[in-house]
Amino acid sequence: MPKHVVISKLGGPEVLKYQEYSLPDEIKVNEVRIKQSSIGLNYIDTYHRSGIYPLPSDLPVCPGMEAAGEIIGIGSEVVNFKIGDRVAYATPPIGAYCEIRDFPEEKLISIPEFLTNDEVASVLLQGMTVEYLFERLHKIKKDDFILFHAAAGGVGLIASQWARSVGCKMIGTVSTKEKAELAMENGCEFTINYKEEIISEKVLEITKNKGVPVVYDGVGKDTFDESIKSLSTRGLMVSFGQSSGMVEKIDMHKTFNPKSLFYTRPSLMGYTLNREELIHCSNKLFEKMKNNEVRSNIYKKFKLEEAKEAHIILQSRESSGSIILEP
Ligand SMILES: NC(=O)c1ccc[n+]([C@@H]2O[C@H](COP(=O)([O-])OP(=O)(O)OC[C@H]3O[C@@H](n4cnc5c(N)ncnc54)[C@H](OP(=O)(O)O)[C@@H]3O)[C@@H](O)[C@H]2O)c1
Repeated sequence: MPKHVVISKLGGPEVLKYQEYSLPDEIKVNEVRIKQSSIGLNYIDTYHRSGIYPLPSDLPVCPGMEAAGEIIGIGSEVVNFKIGDRVAYATPPIGAYCEIRDFPEEKLISIPEFLTNDEVASVLLQGMTVEYLFERLHKIKKDDFILFHAAAGGVGLIASQWARSVGCKMIGTVSTKEKAELAMENGCEFTINYKEEIISEKVLEITKNKGVPVVYDGVGKDTFDESIKSLSTRGLMVSFGQSSGMVEKIDMHKTFNPKSLFYTRPSLMGYTLNREELIHCSNKLFEKMKNNEVRSNIYKKFKLEEAKEAHIILQSRESSGSIILEP
């Protein structure tokens, strides 16, 4: 029998349990059956596990949003894929932490031949996130300053590379000297160690008191106030995650009125609403990878049964780049 990881109660990494499961006898008409070889670990998996984000169904639930593998079976109405195809996904329905699963063809992506399954599983969700943040939500431009938090993380290193490919001057925050070096190597123009320096002071120094037109904030609670202080008048605050915890109640008037700021709280799902958007987004990422402007940064590969250890590493701030699980 195949094995997967399940959550039977919400909580810390210890609630992730590795156990056997059975597959449905029949594949649904619009789904394919995938033998997965590589699973992407994302911060959102920790939100599902702990209950910060609601789960789509009652417990027990198999978590995970991203994986790559090979098609081993197809439903009777599947038209775009065949057995043997290498495919990947980075969207709901959740349930990626497993060896074999059925998945709807409309949300599936073909893996280009120049990329391995590990590379795609390590980059697809985080890279598509950078695509919509930098190309569609707010188009970054050559010579513009931007502030991006956790620049040495999974999303952060891809963002550093993407910004460099555009000629945009990314100011990245990091927690250690080693992470600062890594972010610079990957394309950050400036780094701020937010454990030692005051973010807004450094941003104002770098931008000659202008502030930045946009802040991409995936850290949340610990950085929100400094992000607001770092923005220029009519700047855009993009809250796209909360690795340090949820932002607590804010006073809308006091926060946004003095500088006439804009605010948005986007999600990848909101920017891959249909197949056309999903293919546009993934193709743009693959194009960047083909041009060597963006590459996969695998920090560590864990066995699927070690999902608990992988979550501990991600939440301890020890990791940089992406983490993958191997079924
Ligand atoms: N909205 C969307 O569409 C979308 C899509 C993908 C990801 N995201 C978000 O993007 C963010 C980054 O995701 P990721 O998967 O690439 O994770 P990640 O950046 O690899 O890991 C999180 C990083 O956050 C930083 N951090 C700061 N304070 C922290 C704290 N108290 N606890 C833990 N980490 C802390 C750490 O970097 P330092 O050590 O340098 O501080 C840590 O490495 C997450 O918030 C995630 O939810 C959003």
